[in-house]
Amino acid sequence: MERLPKLHEAYGNSFKIGAAVNPITMVTQKELLSHHFNSVTAENEMKFERLHPSEEVYTFEQADQIVSFAKSNGMSVRGHTLVWHNQTPEWVFQDSSGGTAGRELLLARMKSHIDEVVGRYRGDIYAWDVVNEAIADSGSNLLRSSPWLASIGEDFIAKAFEYAHEADPQALLFYNDYNESVPEKREKIYTLLKSLKEQDVPIHGVGLQAHWNLEFPALDDIRRAIERYASLGMMLHITELDVSVFAHEDKRTDLAAPTEEMLQRQAERYGQLFRLLKEYSGSVTSVTFWGAADDYTWLDHFPVRGRKNWPFVFDENHLPKESYWNLLKEANPE
Ligand code: G3I
Repeated sequence: MERLPKLHEAYGNSFKIGAAVNPITMVTQKELLSHHFNSVTAENEMKFERLHPSEEVYTFEQADQIVSFAKSNGMSVRGHTLVWHNQTPEWVFQDSSGGTAGRELLLARMKSHIDEVVGRYRGDIYAWDVVNEAIADSGSNLLRSSPWLASIGEDFIAKAFEYAHEADPQALLFYNDYNESVPEKREKIYTLLKSLKEQDVPIHGVGLQAHWNLEFPALDDIRRAIERYASLGMMLHITELDVSVFAHEDKRTDLAAPTEEMLQRQAERYGQLFRLLKEYSGSVTSVTFWGAADDYTWLDHFPVRGRKNWPFVFDENHLPKESYWNLLKEANPE
């Protein structure tokens, strides 16, 4: 592997190349990660439930390990994530009598969590996903229902960005979401971003998660999302890229290995995606995969438990797939 061209060097003039890591993959994929990637994101270890399981208790050990892994390998760190409806412990939303926490209490808790976490990693984490997945997937409401929205109101988003900016004025602050290529959701996200900009909220960019597959979404829809958000002066990060070889509704669990056809289509797809992203490298400054190699992916459990998936450009033995070679070709077209 040492002789393979490094992915992050191939894209050095375009954007950072990142990977989501966890305490296991930092060990099992150490060589691969340190060779090809120059940015990492904690897959779960910087989420509220992991860092702050009860009001007086912070548990930073695993997050600290990820930051020191990055430092010792010369990698940047993206922080993920401060305010989300998921993976947040129940105590956060309860008052002392077990009822629902009101606006002032919840804002105070949000602020102290952000102060503590963003403050701890000031200078080490250069970009934060401040708010994750706050937009409603469908229907007429702009925002999804969540305890944050119910107790604080719509300005919970602006407040989170303000607190994060106070805690680290140098950090780049992102709103992160999925399905931004679906027209209805793309426009809702645009509406949110525009309104935050108009209120002078300190937001610098938008994260497109990019949990994609061989067909979805169409390249033109990705292009439209990038152009729409870039028109607001937003920086763009691709934050959680994977290309599932299954359509979402495909329930089969019988494949022990990907078919040749899947691998070929995946390689073409990766080539097309990176060609597109490179066109926008003035706005797209980081592309992070939600993992690194096919031996570990959250998609093995989603949306079908126990259905093995092969979404990355390195295989289960960390060897380059056709997808990897296509990424190199796109990095250095003849
Ligand atoms: O740690 C426990 C373990 O103790 C327990 O035995 C086991 C039983 O299922 O669960 C383990 O926790 C799991 C955790 O991942 C750690 O592996 C949770 O069940 C599982 O739900 C959790 O999934 C994570 C998911 O976020 C939860 O929302 C995935 O690893 C993680 O990849 C995924 O990441 C999200 C991004 O943060 C936001 N965008 C979507 C993306 C994919 O869902």
